[in-house]
Amino acid sequence: MQSSTNWIQSFIYLTLITISLYLLHILILSDRLTISHHKITIKKHPHLPLRFNSDGTFKILQVADMHYGTGLTRCRDVLSSEFDSCSDLNTTWFLKRMIEDEKPDFIAFTGDNIFGSSTNDAAESLFKAFGPAMDSRLPWAAVLGNHDQESTMTREELMSFISLMDYSLSQPNPLTQDPTDPTKQKIMTEIDGFGNYDLRVWGPPGYPLANQTNDSR
Ligand SMILES: *[C@@H]1O[C@H](CO)[C@@H](O)[C@H](O)[C@H]1NC(C)=O
Ligand SMILES: *[C@@H]1O[C@H](CO)[C@@H](O)[C@H](O)[C@H]1NC(C)=O
Repeated sequence: MQSSTNWIQSFIYLTLITISLYLLHILILSDRLTISHHKITIKKHPHLPLRFNSDGTFKILQVADMHYGTGLTRCRDVLSSEFDSCSDLNTTWFLKRMIEDEKPDFIAFTGDNIFGSSTNDAAESLFKAFGPAMDSRLPWAAVLGNHDQESTMTREELMSFISLMDYSLSQPNPLTQDPTDPTKQKIMTEIDGFGNYDLRVWGPPGYPLANQTNDSR
């Protein structure tokens, strides 16, 4: 009888401890480990290196001036009859359609990705603007325009943030050898601004140019 009571007590204690830990995890940890309501996950990387296809093509979808706001921000410069039914969501649908129809090898976003004055949360706006690119799992990269910085992030913060997004090949700046430690690299600072970088595209696998890139001499 005695040992059975002990067993039941131990069981109840263990259950209570487990439930407490679980609640602690939900209430405290998972709430804190978010950026703008997004859970932090390890960055997903695209299949690298970038390579030409064996037919000699490399298709780039270039997207400029999405001017993305909160996700529901109204369109500008549309006919007044279109105003009520046009928002950021149209940009999202358009981008999804372009990716599905064109099946690019790479997506290049060339600035004014977000429209700073239409959003008070640059991170949220970036997640929504680049959402279709991340969902597509295609390699993509972005640079900034003048409007990206008009919200809650500086140009350096924007480029760092964008470089950490899933499947992004963006870089805040080129890497250079760290003068204090030749085995390490550091982000170059002797260059104006942020988002200065190049990406290399290699020859198709199994071809004579397989081990060369577009800038090989
Ligand atoms: C935006 O999308 C809505 C819903 O599909 C559509 O009715 C509207 O015509 C679109 N607006 C523009 C300007 O394409
Ligand atoms: C490219 O490099 C790989 C690995 O070093 C080698 O096996 C392959 O033969 C090279 N291909 C060409 C075309 O040089």
